[in-house]
Amino acid sequence: MIKKGIILAGGLGTRMSPLTKAVNKQLLPLYDKPLIYYPLSVLMLAGIKNILIIVNKGQLSQFRKILPEKNNLGINIHYKEQSKPRGLPDAFLIGKNFIGKDNVALILGDNFFYGQNFSSKLKKSVKLKYGAQVYLHPVNNPNLYGVATTNKKNKILKIIEKPKKTKSNLAVTGIYFFDNNVIDLSKTLKPSKRNELEIVDLLNKYKKKGKLKAEFIGRGGAWLDTGNIEDFYNTSNFVAAIENRQGLKIACLEEIAFVNKWIEKKDILNAIKFYGNCNYSKYLKRFLN
Ligand code: TTP
Repeated sequence: MIKKGIILAGGLGTRMSPLTKAVNKQLLPLYDKPLIYYPLSVLMLAGIKNILIIVNKGQLSQFRKILPEKNNLGINIHYKEQSKPRGLPDAFLIGKNFIGKDNVALILGDNFFYGQNFSSKLKKSVKLKYGAQVYLHPVNNPNLYGVATTNKKNKILKIIEKPKKTKSNLAVTGIYFFDNNVIDLSKTLKPSKRNELEIVDLLNKYKKKGKLKAEFIGRGGAWLDTGNIEDFYNTSNFVAAIENRQGLKIACLEEIAFVNKWIEKKDILNAIKFYGNCNYSKYLKRFLN
């Protein structure tokens, strides 16, 4: 059972500049919450309580303000700094001591997932014992992503980073599950032309050993981009549309923690005090009643 997860929340956010000059992308508001709430909610829905958040050097205090180590969520938050964006597998080098001898999940701090049955799929994914597992989802512009070609049995044949030409529209999304070999395998990676360790190279190492599994979010689920301004606001509007229609929040962390039985009523009351008089607090009050 995977009990540890890493959120990679550094990066330069170049495409979102000037918004990201002073504030990290993961702290920008995706509708009514900081962006990082969404990937964190995904790990919590998977039942993961031990969480390492990797942030840029110098940005720790900002993240601590909203997600302190001592929190009302019943989870253990740890922080580590990344001195510069060395690529996604750097998470396993930075997180080596945090991971220890366990298996681990990785989620990118700017990834948004939503959909029926996604939680139950995640709960299956954390049962991973050996190898690695990725989630694939169709996209209109596969040349911007790591793309998997699969056979009729949904077995991954190969993964290519940002292919110029591809017959597959299946992107590798930003949530991954790995066995403990991920630390040693990451150590063997060499930086690519863009001078980053590449997650695709890491996944292909698992693939070569026949240990890479594919899962699918499914057609009814959403995996939305927040990498550039246009996509960021489209995703924000998606959250607004669902929340305002249903009166239910996406990624309300306290609600998830309470349903998981990780916290009690008094923790939610503390959270309401912490947030102050706002719609998020009103939602929590309504939830308690
Ligand atoms: P990217 O989209 O590769 O980079 P970015 O978010 O900084 O944006 P841009 O391309 O506009 O500069 O990163 C995906 C996610 O992973 C994002 O949440 C930042 C995070 N990340 C790190 O924390 N460390 C890293 O070394 C890299 C490459 C990304």
